[in-house]
Amino acid sequence: MSERSRRGGRFRADLTGPAKAGHHVRLLVFALIVLTAAALRSSPQRPDVRFLPTPQNVVEAMLALAHVTPADIVFDLGSGDGRIPITAAQKFGARGVGVELDQRLIRLARENAARAGVSDRVTFIEGDLFQADISSATVVTIFLLPSLNVRLIPKFEQELRPGARIVSHHFGMGDRWAPDAEQDVSGLMIYLWNKKS
Ligand SMILES: C[S@@+](CC[C@H](N)C(=O)[O-])C[C@H]1O[C@@H](n2cnc3c(N)ncnc32)[C@H](O)[C@@H]1O
Repeated sequence: MSERSRRGGRFRADLTGPAKAGHHVRLLVFALIVLTAAALRSSPQRPDVRFLPTPQNVVEAMLALAHVTPADIVFDLGSGDGRIPITAAQKFGARGVGVELDQRLIRLARENAARAGVSDRVTFIEGDLFQADISSATVVTIFLLPSLNVRLIPKFEQELRPGARIVSHHFGMGDRWAPDAEQDVSGLMIYLWNKKS
């Protein structure tokens, strides 16, 4: 080691052999950590379940089972192409809100609402359904997965008012929440819960 490097100022410039290689490895690891952290920060949240639309006759049966009227605010959690909030507005006179993670589906739902002439009564919120404020909902619709339905129970218990109704296409809420009504719509099951307290 030279006199100058012992004093510290130009130490790195004087690295040779294994010390130099070790220094490069440490730099590489550091760069990888920084890049991974940046990628994690910028990657969008993945949907918990992929888009599969509820058939239109089932949508209408769900809203009928919940006795939706013009006084209602219908929230569809994971709203896909927007068909449930749009139908709630168009055929039942209600107001509709859709919460959806996928930006492209939000755009499509807004276009569909405009085409159906109900943009003034339907809103689509881009975001995670588990984070959405659903306290103004009088009716909540879901077509998710059994595990996601169960994860939503505490949210329904905390945020929904007594008298609110929840309707699910295809999946129940496990043993904890037995449905108040169920219906077979051309071979597809729908379930209703009435929030009592
Ligand atoms: C099976 S589709 C149902 C679409 C629509 N509700 C219907 O019944 O036609 C489920 C939707 O939930 C959305 N989704 C999944 N996880 C979500 C999350 N954490 N927050 C918001 N939307 C989500 C998906 O992108 C998809 O559009």
